[in-house]
Amino acid sequence: MNRSSSLLASALLVGLSVTACGGGGGDKGGGETANTAATPAATETAAAPAAPAAAAAPAADNVDTVSGAKFADFTGDAAKGEAVFIQCKTCHVTDAGVNRIGPSLHAVVGRKASTIAGYQYSEANHNSGITWTAEKLFQYLENPQRVVPGTKMAFAGIQDPQKRADLIAWLATQK
Ligand code: HEC
Repeated sequence: MNRSSSLLASALLVGLSVTACGGGGGDKGGGETANTAATPAATETAAAPAAPAAAAAPAADNVDTVSGAKFADFTGDAAKGEAVFIQCKTCHVTDAGVNRIGPSLHAVVGRKASTIAGYQYSEANHNSGITWTAEKLFQYLENPQRVVPGTKMAFAGIQDPQKRADLIAWLATQK
């Protein structure tokens, strides 16, 4: 009696676990399939209008901004730019050789991307082929993720083109 109960119990347990795995796995698989099928469709529909803009980085020597603002149309005020730099200070200093969360911005204007020794750049920044001319910085700082997709610089950008011009004028003095 005891023996057959325990046999029965084992059989039940085995049966249960098989059911649990098979059933659970099946349900889960089914659920995932349904989700996978549904999610991209929904995402595609929602993201469709934005997709072309997000598709690729501008060429390394392209300096077109999203807003259409051109660097040449602005006169940067370095004194005002120093105040704008407060937004960068969480992660950058302009002292030579001092890297924080981001690399030193000493003499950044005119510098090739990813050339600060001892700083671990992302692949995205490293392979960008960019030279940080004033015009390129003006484009980059509007929306860093657009210009260097996959950059680890977690900064949304500065919308006001005058503020970017001021900041770049100040950065140009930091050499
Ligand atoms: C939250 C931190 C953070 C803030 C804020 C930030 N940066 Fe960065 N920045 C980074 C990181 C991290 C990198 C390295 C990017 C990479 O390797 O992908 C970087 C890279 C850069 C580069 C490329 C440098 C090179 O050697 O190639 C420039 C130029 C730059 N930042 C300018 C600025 C300016 C100007 C501001 C302020 C408007 C700013 N950043 C704000 C974190 C930040």
